[in-house]
Amino acid sequence: MQLKTVENYEEMSRVACSVIIQRIQQLENPVLGLATGSTPEGLYKQMIEQYKQKNVSFESVRTFNLDEYVGLTKENEQSYDFYMKDNLFQHIDIDQANTHLPNGVAADLDKECIDYEARIEQAGGIDVQVLGIGLNGHIGFNEPGTNFSSRTHIIDLAPSTRKANARFFEDLAEVPEKAITMGIETIMQSKEILLLVSGEKKAEAVSRMIKGEISEEFPASILQKHPNVTVIGDEAALSLL
Ligand code: GLP
Repeated sequence: MQLKTVENYEEMSRVACSVIIQRIQQLENPVLGLATGSTPEGLYKQMIEQYKQKNVSFESVRTFNLDEYVGLTKENEQSYDFYMKDNLFQHIDIDQANTHLPNGVAADLDKECIDYEARIEQAGGIDVQVLGIGLNGHIGFNEPGTNFSSRTHIIDLAPSTRKANARFFEDLAEVPEKAITMGIETIMQSKEILLLVSGEKKAEAVSRMIKGEISEEFPASILQKHPNVTVIGDEAALSLL
């Protein structure tokens, strides 16, 4: 794993954005894996800014998001579909048909998981996957105990994850109990991973991810085995290393 220590959230977002723009410029048909949560919001702002300044075009870009809540429609403001449009897609020149998220309201969710994997494969796999990390070490929504050989699947959200994400909802009861997420193996097959992390409250998780035992009990620890991971973190988040 490569570590890039930056000063703060702003710089983390700028550094991540510059790597992504480089890849978009280097690759003929770039495929980006995207994440949600608070962490990548600054990155998406930077990407929009760079687009407005005509430093990048997203016309050739295809995207696949890590995950989606089960039971929330695209119109629901808490859905990750809504988040992506609101925070990125509607502000740039990407073709909406090239943006993919798992459908959390598909009639047949098992089939949706298989189809999502097939769509990623058809696109040639993910070139650069953006990741955040949950306090319990989850990546995407792969909670502790998820099999390292998992592909896109349905998962029961850990009570602690529902609590952590309740800040985006009116109250805890509204946070869905299940999600559809790329599996650990899906994530591990991306050619490159950029893991973004900011703030003291993530410091322990980051230290366990980088220095801890590789175990399904702490999903992010598997990233130690990926050949091309860059952790872009601010000083607070990397303070326990
Ligand atoms: C969420 C998402 C993850 C994200 C993580 C951390 O539940 N499913 O993809 O990385 O939790 O979120 P945040 O960046 O808001 O701390």
